[in-house]
Amino acid sequence: MNKLATYTLVLAFCVGAYYAAVAAEKTTEPAKEEAAQAAPAEAAKEPVVCFESRKGASEITQREIQPGWPNVKCSPTTGAALWYGDPFDGTVPMGKMPLLDKIPEGHALVKPRSEKLAILPMCGTACHNGVGPAFSPPKLPKDKKAVPIPTMEGLLPEVKDLQHGRGRIWCLDCHHTTQRNKLVDHYGDPISFDQPQLLCGKCHGDKLRDWRDGIHGKRIGEWASTGKKRWFTCTECHNPHNVQDGARNKGFVQLQPEPPPQLPMGMKDGKHEKLHPIAH
Ligand code: HEC
Ligand code: HEC
Ligand code: HEC
Repeated sequence: MNKLATYTLVLAFCVGAYYAAVAAEKTTEPAKEEAAQAAPAEAAKEPVVCFESRKGASEITQREIQPGWPNVKCSPTTGAALWYGDPFDGTVPMGKMPLLDKIPEGHALVKPRSEKLAILPMCGTACHNGVGPAFSPPKLPKDKKAVPIPTMEGLLPEVKDLQHGRGRIWCLDCHHTTQRNKLVDHYGDPISFDQPQLLCGKCHGDKLRDWRDGIHGKRIGEWASTGKKRWFTCTECHNPHNVQDGARNKGFVQLQPEPPPQLPMGMKDGKHEKLHPIAH
């Protein structure tokens, strides 16, 4: 076959394929329209889940408290919670907190962590159940280095190379030795996962003090100092196993910021914002 014939054949094939594709699109179009019309009803059923402070670990599902009144509004770009219709939605009393006893009963509220922890319910029953080497205290490593267990690392990859403390602390400085569904204080007494501030505070006393005073962390709710508030607990923001964001070795996992808002009509750029309005 000569070259020209081959090209013609290829061209004919391509054109043929193109028309076939166009025709196929045309025939599927009405079907697409139907699907689009049906979509809003379908989409309304799909639950909107947005994150509060820590992506993947502190989620909230959008629902209506009253018709047209959602419990939370979230950023369509980042998926982060922006506004609360009810700041106390899903909260429970914080429990006893030293030096916060001036706050009237039921005015200090938190979102329980335990229900967010998917693996934890298994820990004390399936593996650290009082039977076998994974549990019995005399067999715990003397050098306080965690024994690599593939099952554990499979469940929670971040503990494979524990970043917190830069090698100075290990699992049982935070987790209770015999009650694996509890954290531990300096006296060896158990702490609930819903009160992580009691755990973190034993080593980060300055941060606990700031948190109590409202300088560190976040609270939402009533304005008055003794008013009803939801307190964000330490682990709602910090991942206890990786407070340094791995190799970044500095603070939190970075989020892509939202794009800036649209400029008002007639304004070319936002350069004026860089100038201080009062000369100094
Ligand atoms: C600085 C304290 C600290 C250290 C050290 C620590 N943990 Fe944790 N761990 C926590 C806290 C607090 C939670 C609960 C996290 C939350 O509320 O999101 C937790 C949760 C867990 C969970 C449950 C996770 C889930 O999603 O259900 C497992 C399993 C676990 N840790 C294993 C380990 C292992 C293994 C080590 C050692 C290699 C370790 N931890 C070291 C504080 C610590
Ligand atoms: C047993 C002591 C201990 C406990 C308990 C503990 N930490 Fe730490 N934490 C450390 C040490 C040690 C460092 C490392 C400080 C350094 O390297 O300068 C650290 C560092 C940090 C850092 C800073 C990370 C950085 O950039 O160096 C954060 C944030 C942090 N911890 C949060 C927490 C939170 C939240 C909790 C409770 C879940 C907690 N810690 C519990 C000992 C502890
Ligand atoms: C609302 C979110 C939030 C809560 C709640 C929160 N923190 Fe933080 N924390 C932050 C942010 C943001 C930083 C600054 C991180 C950075 O610089 O990258 C920080 C920094 C820290 C640091 C490191 C400070 C330093 O000097 O490098 C420690 C330690 C810490 N927090 C402990 C705690 C403890 C303990 C609690 C609970 C009592 C807590 N945080 C509650 C958001 C939070």
